[in-house]
Amino acid sequence: MKLSFELNGKPTQIEIEARETLAEVLRARCRLTGVKISCEAQVCGSCTVQVDGLPVSACTYLAYEVRGRRVTTIEGLADASGRLHPLQQAFLDHFAFQCGFCTPGMIMAAKSLLDEVPDPTEAEIVEHMNGNLCRCTGYLAILKAIQQASKEMRVQK
Ligand code: FES
Ligand code: FES
Repeated sequence: MKLSFELNGKPTQIEIEARETLAEVLRARCRLTGVKISCEAQVCGSCTVQVDGLPVSACTYLAYEVRGRRVTTIEGLADASGRLHPLQQAFLDHFAFQCGFCTPGMIMAAKSLLDEVPDPTEAEIVEHMNGNLCRCTGYLAILKAIQQASKEMRVQK
């Protein structure tokens, strides 16, 4: 079937099979391998992307459901000049990753929070991020990075 949607700001048309998940289509057909697949059961958050600005687990979201919608992945966050999104920069500044496998999903989940709640409390960040698992960092650096990005994004507005 033909799928038409907006992908990282660009109108996109591709052929897919109805059974394919959004994560499979983004990785294999669109070559956006920032979308990670781990649990494939909506448990770990590694595959988080935004659909119409809201976070979804792409591993359990059928690709055809994005027809006519806006999809944003980690590859779509830097601006046209290549400058990193404040969340990407903050994760670098705080060394908020080790293997990096969870990082794209972490950043996309955090972006969804900051888009809705620009100045979240620590408790709100922890609550929002509890669906994103990291085996490496211990989470403190991730929390600090999100807090830094929150400040930066408010200054930029
Ligand atoms: S791979 Fe989708 S939630 Fe774990
Ligand atoms: S940095 Fe390795 S899983 Fe999070």
